[in-house]
Amino acid sequence: MTDPQPAQSAINTTPAIDTALAIDARDVVESFTVDGQDLPILHGVSVQVQPNEVVAIMGPSGSGKSTLLYCLAGLEQPSNGQVVLNGTELGGQSRSTLAKMRRSEIGFVFQSYNLIPTLTAYENVALPHLLAGRKPPHTTIVATMEHVGLAHRLDAQPPSMSGGEQQRTALARVLAQEPQIVFADEPTGALDSRSGELVLDSLVDMARQPGRAVLLVTHDPAVAARCDRVLFLTDGRLAGELHPRSVTEVADTLARLTTKED
Ligand SMILES: Nc1ncnc2c1ncn2[C@@H]1O[C@H](COP(=O)(O)OP(=O)(O)O)[C@@H](O)[C@H]1O
Ligand SMILES: [Mg+2]
Repeated sequence: MTDPQPAQSAINTTPAIDTALAIDARDVVESFTVDGQDLPILHGVSVQVQPNEVVAIMGPSGSGKSTLLYCLAGLEQPSNGQVVLNGTELGGQSRSTLAKMRRSEIGFVFQSYNLIPTLTAYENVALPHLLAGRKPPHTTIVATMEHVGLAHRLDAQPPSMSGGEQQRTALARVLAQEPQIVFADEPTGALDSRSGELVLDSLVDMARQPGRAVLLVTHDPAVAARCDRVLFLTDGRLAGELHPRSVTEVADTLARLTTKED
């Protein structure tokens, strides 16, 4: 019953907003102003993610993957387009409602981890609960840290932790938050392949719970191949979509779509 439904094409679809989708983003446009000049980054990107789906975004550095994730998670307001998460349109929400959503329904694993250096790993994982005015669930937090292999690092502060340990703490923070939609920006980037698999297993497990979904960015074809669907982004535009069957197929598609023929 909870199997992912056949995915709708992410490209060239403009039907009415579908409130049954976890993520329904239409024609997202984003640009930055650099030295007084308008620098377009996303040129109208549409992404639909079904409940229980795990979707990967791949593409060259600078193609706009992080910007897209920020726009879809409500961390950045796009210049144009529409983002609907579990039936709630982000564009119509106040800043405080968006902040509230980010503390409960939306989880974000930052590429740069975004841990508070003066707090312990345990306190960092407890933080979303404290910010949401909830009592941090001690047993869940300890179990989650144990799950990511960091039971012995509860009292460590981020500056004394390795990049991999910090990345796993950032993941534990989101897992313990138990949000409905997880956005993860290269969540296995600092990890060896064994830890990377564990992190991916956790994200896939989370997505299979009722009412959950995961959208992640990765450079690793082995990570993308384990997702239900892969979207390829080049120069701020969706260049293709794949229901991956093998690591080789993902790597070949990535190479074909991102190698410019002169
Ligand atoms: N706040 C910003 N101001 C100006 N340019 C930005 C900003 N954030 C990102 N960019 C630029 O937007 C482009 C896409 O960045 P990003 O989304 O981080 O790409 P990716 O995650 O695919 O590597 C890059 O050229 C980057 O330099
Ligand atoms: Mg990035």
